[in-house]
This record gives sequence, structure tokens and C-alpha cells, in this order.
Amino acid sequence: MDFKDYIRVIPDFPQPGISFKDITTLLNDGAKYREAIEEMRKMIADLKIDLIAGPEARGFVVGAPLAYALGVGFVPIRKQGKLPFDTIEVSYDLEYGTDVLAMHRDAVKPGQNVLIADDLLATGGTIATCVDLIRQVGGNVVGAAFMIELQDLNGRAKLPDVEVFTLTQYP
Ligand code: PRP
Repeated sequence: MDFKDYIRVIPDFPQPGISFKDITTLLNDGAKYREAIEEMRKMIADLKIDLIAGPEARGFVVGAPLAYALGVGFVPIRKQGKLPFDTIEVSYDLEYGTDVLAMHRDAVKPGQNVLIADDLLATGGTIATCVDLIRQVGGNVVGAAFMIELQDLNGRAKLPDVEVFTLTQYP
């Protein structure tokens, strides 16, 4: 079966008009979860990767097993106020208001090759912010890999110089 058969689509969540792509049903199936991570690993097999970075919270459940599969380190990118050491922070626009993402300043060393991983590419705002954080400390973003791409939201436009890999696509 296709990965889409394991992704539950919830209409009008979290607000009317939004069709939410719920990956918890895929995560719930051990064999399919493993298969999804393995397919993502194959998509990026040609890249030279030193680290994987993922934004909280769903970026952790994709990025951490991918890092484990590759045998590279994982860098958590978190909402403001969660990381205990010296952080670098970047704010980004949401539909209503702004939010801030943070990363430990010493998590990525200058010249390291970083792949960003997340469950979903929607508007691209989250990942563009992750790219900004990694580049500010001298990291080299070698790509961004997602389980799901919402194509109509054109998130790739916010990542013009990043190679994007997606496992499944929705209009
Ligand atoms: C969701 C999703 C992506 C992001 C995609 O995370 O997991 O990280 O939104 O949207 P964008 O491309 O428009 O930026 P959310 O901020 O809801 O956080 P969560 O993973 O903690 O639920």
C-alpha cells in the first residue's frame, strides 16, 4: 500500500478549510514507519551528510530515526525558551503573528553538511527559518527532506537554493 493509505486526513483541523495530514497513523504502524524512513534514506543516499536537523515536534520523529539510520548526529531545532545552552534564534511569520525557532549555537560547526528533515512542507516558513539558523553559524545546508509536500502552498519557493526531497505529495 501507498504511504498515503497510512496518513489520516482530517478536514477542517485546526481551523475550517484546512485539511490536516495526520502522520500519527503512519507512525503507529512499525513496519510502515520503518519503510518510510528507509525510503527517505534512499532519496538522500547520494548526499554527503554530517548532521540532520529537525524542527520540533514532528521534525524529531522524522529526523532522529533518519540520523540513526545514517549514523550521523541529530540537531533539535526548538521553539524559543526550550534549549538550555547558548542559542541562536530567528523569528518567522505565521498566518497570525510571529514565532521564534532556536538552535544551540555550537550544534553545527562551520563547514558541516546539514540535511534538514521534517514531516511536512507547507508554506516553507519553518524550514526557511531552519536554513537561516544553520547558515548563520556557518553550516552548509545540503538539502531538506519531508514525508509530505503540500504542493499548492509552494513551499519550495521559500527554499530556492535548497534541494528538496519529498516522499508523498498532495495538491
Ligand atoms: C508543522 C509541521 C512543519 C510545519 C510546516 O509544524 O510539522 O514543521 O508546520 O509548515 P510550514 O511549511 O508552513 O512552515 P508545527 O509548527 O505545527 O509544529 P509541531 O510539529 O510542533 O506540531
